[in-house]
Amino acid sequence: MSRLIDWIDERYPLTKVWKEHLAEYYAPKNFNFWYFFGSLALLVLVNQIVTGIWLTMNYKPDANLAFASVEYIMRDVNWGWLIRYLHSTGASAFFIVIYLHMFRGLIYGSYRKPRELLWIIGVVIYLAMMATAFFGYLLPWGQMSYWGAQVIVNLFSAIPVIGDDLSVWIRGDYVISDTTLNRFFALHYLLPFVLAALVFVHIVALHKVGSNNPDGIEIKKGPKGNRWSDTAPADGIPFHPYYTVKDIVGVAGFLIVFLGVVFFLPEMGGFFLEHPNFEPANPLKTPPHIAPVWYFTPFYAMLRAVPSFAGTQVWGVLVMGASIVILFFLPWLDRSPVKSIRYKGMISKVAIALFVIDFLVLGYLGMKPATPGRTLVAQIGTVYYFLFFLAMPFYSKIDKTKPVPERVTQ
Ligand code: HEM
Repeated sequence: MSRLIDWIDERYPLTKVWKEHLAEYYAPKNFNFWYFFGSLALLVLVNQIVTGIWLTMNYKPDANLAFASVEYIMRDVNWGWLIRYLHSTGASAFFIVIYLHMFRGLIYGSYRKPRELLWIIGVVIYLAMMATAFFGYLLPWGQMSYWGAQVIVNLFSAIPVIGDDLSVWIRGDYVISDTTLNRFFALHYLLPFVLAALVFVHIVALHKVGSNNPDGIEIKKGPKGNRWSDTAPADGIPFHPYYTVKDIVGVAGFLIVFLGVVFFLPEMGGFFLEHPNFEPANPLKTPPHIAPVWYFTPFYAMLRAVPSFAGTQVWGVLVMGASIVILFFLPWLDRSPVKSIRYKGMISKVAIALFVIDFLVLGYLGMKPATPGRTLVAQIGTVYYFLFFLAMPFYSKIDKTKPVPERVTQ
């Protein structure tokens, strides 16, 4: 065995990579629950790719056959129902995991220097995930697939001058059609591999600067020397075996919940698989209420909250776009002298708590048909969403912080 490894090492840096990124990669020793979600995101990405490839073996990207091919997978293909539910539940699980992963970054200030690029790559990943989920949602060719895609692609026609041509170019037709289904399928198959490449870049950026931790202390700047090495950070422990084993605990906990949903509640009462999508797409029958899947609804609520001026929805579209773009600027909006919420003051803590409530309320409103009352709440919610970011340079600066300890706490 060791001769084989020597043979490989002379031709490929196997042992070097193993040491640098696992056995001798020193991660802060105070990781908590919130640090499970990076490895879980990786697990869910692999699940999506593997189950997606197997679904493709029986799925037909053809407007006349797509819906029936999904039913065929559910009823006739051996274990097809399991593969499909792993994939459809996996999509929602992916967003749950990523929202928690991003929330961890938010509370521990993991986006701040020197991790700005790591965060920015994360936001690009998030955008790619949204595109992947959007393309995938058309594939079962149900009522909601069809009309959801119709509504979202139509948003592009709100862009002045080029809008109409752009939306025709995206669809490849004047309405969502077989052509659209074919190209969405092509892109839905491609994007997960782009995601995998982006995740690789994300991890490279992480390993260049090292992980942050719940105390927001840079362990590389602290004292050196631990049980394994005289030059490693004193507050670091080797990623392998310590965190590989710890992450397995996270995986086990996640799989209990995830498979519980897959086996017993795969539709999640219409949240993960919407009811109108059990009806084949019908271009002549608009469903009474069109709403995107839950993970898009906070942004959909913001879109609808903006009234259309002079007959154009373009402002709503811009607000929705800005709600994501603003995430790119987060590293430069936070001016607090400390990174972690643990040492931030009351203003920042209340601002983050309200932000979470706001995001959930917007998500709820985006699922419901609009009423004047709900629109007003969505408008207040949209204003707060932006205020949280835009007022951050001020409140993070004046907020009273606690002294940060020299070493990480256990
Ligand atoms: C497919 C999606 C993603 C995967 C597989 C992934 C994977 C990972 C992994 C394995 C880690 C190290 C372990 C951990 O800290 O939990 C990490 C750290 C990090 N990720 Fe992601 N990530 C993804 C998406 C995102 C997104 C969307 C963002 C933010 C917009 C983000 C921001 C970060 C940050 C800031 C860190 C460093 C956290 C710290 O050290 O405290 N990631 N990611």
